[in-house]
Amino acid sequence: GTIADQEARFRASVAAMTTTPAAPRRTPEHPPAGDRFANTTDADPALPTVRVWAADRVAARPAPLTSPVLGSVAEVDAVVAAGRAAQPAWIARPATERAALLRRAADELEARRGELVTAMAAEGGKTVAEADPEVSEAIDFARYYADRIPELDPATGHLSTDGARFTPATLTLVTPPWNFPVAIPTGGVLAALAAGSAVVIKPAHPVPACTEVAVAAVHAALAADGAPRDLLQVVRADEREVGRALVAHDGVDTVVLTGAIETARMFETWRAGRPGGPRVYAETSGKNSLVITPAADYDLAVADLVKSAFGHAGQKCSAASLVILVGSAGTSARLRRQLVDAVRSLRVGWPTDLGATMGPVIEPPEGKLRRAQTTLEPGESWVVEPRPLDESGRLWSPGVKDGVAPGSFFHLTECFGPVLGIMRARTLAEAVELQNATDFGLTGGLHSLDEEEIDYWLDHVEVGNAYVNRHITGAIVQRQPFGGWKGSAVGPGAKAGGPNYVAQLGDWDTDGVPG
Ligand code: SER
Repeated sequence: GTIADQEARFRASVAAMTTTPAAPRRTPEHPPAGDRFANTTDADPALPTVRVWAADRVAARPAPLTSPVLGSVAEVDAVVAAGRAAQPAWIARPATERAALLRRAADELEARRGELVTAMAAEGGKTVAEADPEVSEAIDFARYYADRIPELDPATGHLSTDGARFTPATLTLVTPPWNFPVAIPTGGVLAALAAGSAVVIKPAHPVPACTEVAVAAVHAALAADGAPRDLLQVVRADEREVGRALVAHDGVDTVVLTGAIETARMFETWRAGRPGGPRVYAETSGKNSLVITPAADYDLAVADLVKSAFGHAGQKCSAASLVILVGSAGTSARLRRQLVDAVRSLRVGWPTDLGATMGPVIEPPEGKLRRAQTTLEPGESWVVEPRPLDESGRLWSPGVKDGVAPGSFFHLTECFGPVLGIMRARTLAEAVELQNATDFGLTGGLHSLDEEEIDYWLDHVEVGNAYVNRHITGAIVQRQPFGGWKGSAVGPGAKAGGPNYVAQLGDWDTDGVPG
């Protein structure tokens, strides 16, 4: 059909899965600003891409959920036993066959791109412009981890450069977050399979269809290869005691979590006392900032800042929730005007609006996010005040607050939503101190064209992913392996999409992961 037909079909398929009401296209609170700057985000750059995409790829609505909801500890035992029983046949296969299976999974994911995007839009509120690259990331994980398999072949005895031998976990539990409901679960599952482990995955509760479609792609690859289906089981566990039984189970060797630091600590407590330690490997929270110095290209800096702060409505562990302006950048009227214009030009809408550049939050804000959106702490003032845009409670306009004080609530607390705070520093050294003052160390950014500033910043910033003159979300597999430092990581901390991620999912006969 025509592009218009395809768009209509996509809108209908998402709408059919979504109970939230249709949204206004642009809100009266945020009329277009008077001044226009070429490099800010107000040109709706997503729209042409989305049109082309929609014409080509849109799939039907995903099938109803099929994964079992575990209702008792006995059912947990059965799932764990089935996973462990399937694993020996998997590591007995030659590395080349296992790598080929992961590459086939990549093709199966590509074949389901439209279905995956539809599920992310409907369940997670993800805009098409955010969801489509997430499918690509999942595919990249499959191909990248396939390439790691020959490096760690447990069937033939392992081959690290120092001759250490690798024994994979027999069963790995993957517990992904709701904000990247395709790339993170798929990456976790495929890394564990690449290591030679069987896998159980428990989807995040608001987004099970996303995980089920991704798992269906991997199951299709397993089936085509004659590999046992129980190598990868997807289960839901709504009752806390059943979830806990799964996480704490003796037959689960390793738990791979992406989620809040509080969840990681809870899982460690549940798994305390095991001979090999709790083996909770987690990528957790962040309180990430982007520093802009007077030596920056402000056009580029503002575009990257807005993308980092408001992509997926700020609901990324990698998101920038602070900008730290150094010296005269802090008093530049031009920089401030560009920022305000770019933020006001975001088009807030439900994913059925193919041009929306910022979607809804996952549920009506409460707690920390609510406080960030509705409260000014001492010294703070609104530059752009956030407002609810409809009755759902989930659609909020973006907020920017100035005057965030060192050591304050918003300086140190991850709020996980579409609010950006402005801080100021006299020098780059002072900015880095503010950046490093939080308990976390996930992502951070610097915008500066000055080589000395760049070197200084890279030497001093305490983050897992340090980005120079780039937005600070959307790490690319292999090119920007993703992981945290300080309170942003639990366990060995090997980075997802990096060389040691698969290698950490098992035991070495020398100490630890190589390299
Ligand atoms: N990998 C994502 C990013 O870089 C976060 O999980 O934004």
